[in-house]
Amino acid sequence: MPYPSNKRVFSGIQPTGVPHIGNYLGALKQWINLQKSNNTCFWSIVDLHAITMPYDAGTYKTKVLTTAATLLAIGIDPEKSILFVQSHVPAHTEATWLMSCQTKYSELQRMTQFKDKGENQASVSTGLFVYPVLMAVDILLYQADLVPVGDDQVQHLELTRTLATRFNNTYNHLFTVPEPYIIKEVARVMSLKDPAKKMSKSGNPNDAIFLTDSQDEIQKKIKTAVTDSGSTFDPDNIGPALKNLLSIYIAFSGVGVEETMEKFGGKGYATIKNDIAEMLIEKLTPIRNKVRILLDNESSLMANLQLGARRANEVAQKNLREMKSRMGFTQIS
Ligand code: TYM
Repeated sequence: MPYPSNKRVFSGIQPTGVPHIGNYLGALKQWINLQKSNNTCFWSIVDLHAITMPYDAGTYKTKVLTTAATLLAIGIDPEKSILFVQSHVPAHTEATWLMSCQTKYSELQRMTQFKDKGENQASVSTGLFVYPVLMAVDILLYQADLVPVGDDQVQHLELTRTLATRFNNTYNHLFTVPEPYIIKEVARVMSLKDPAKKMSKSGNPNDAIFLTDSQDEIQKKIKTAVTDSGSTFDPDNIGPALKNLLSIYIAFSGVGVEETMEKFGGKGYATIKNDIAEMLIEKLTPIRNKVRILLDNESSLMANLQLGARRANEVAQKNLREMKSRMGFTQIS
């Protein structure tokens, strides 16, 4: 299927750690493809979102820079796309307040990510509760048509659409109502240790393969990944663990489904895992090497983020002013 073109596209990633192959297959790979196919792309490192859970201020800057370096290493081109850090564009926080006042308390209470992360609701931060409003504003301030994400963000996207429509109906049409852009086969890459759980940045590091993992780490993690019962692969009876490993193989290698089934049918799990590890090492080693080089030149990395912030600020400020004007605020020039 050809990629969409001539659209405005927005997406974000939290700098909670090095992105993993779930982030890559579910979202970042689509960022690259949409960048290549002639869209106006805004990619944000959403540092304001990542402080909604306890975090370490001492290592935060390194995490933001590592995320930026990883995005550049996988092929985000700061000339073609607008790559920026969310907190460098103050319009996001201001517009979040305005939009919070259009959002019902009960709408935020229903968010499953809030319910999952905020198990102990009495002590969780208010920021975590308001998180989906900030995310909606991220998207709306750039009038995005499309938002490439994994399927854990679908409910947030639904709320974004509700808020855009509500604002448009109340204050006269302003916002584009965005559509999620999701590739079904890789929209939810599962943990290597528990195929019932999503691969995540903040869980046990052995659950996930990070884009900067070394050869040894990749080999060890794939070798110790859980498999289904039995010891050889039967394409007519695929369990959840093998399904996950093979969808990672197919999406990363570009080898077709049928060809993969033929290649691995009847093979032992150990052989299959070895092939998957080799393929991942081949794909990820160049990324790991590029990240190291990019992180060695912090001033050039910062210059790229400065360029992105300047371009993002122009668009976001204009839409924020329009939002305030529709809402009846007095404004000074
Ligand atoms: P975050 O940082 O958790 O994840 C970044 C992107 O990776 C996708 N993803 C996955 N896809 C497939 N399998 C997985 N196991 C997996 N884990 C994560 C996520 O769906 C996401 O697309 N709230 C967002 C960040 C955000 C945002 C936005 C996204 C803030 N503002 C505006 C889009 C538009 C988040 O926490 O992503």
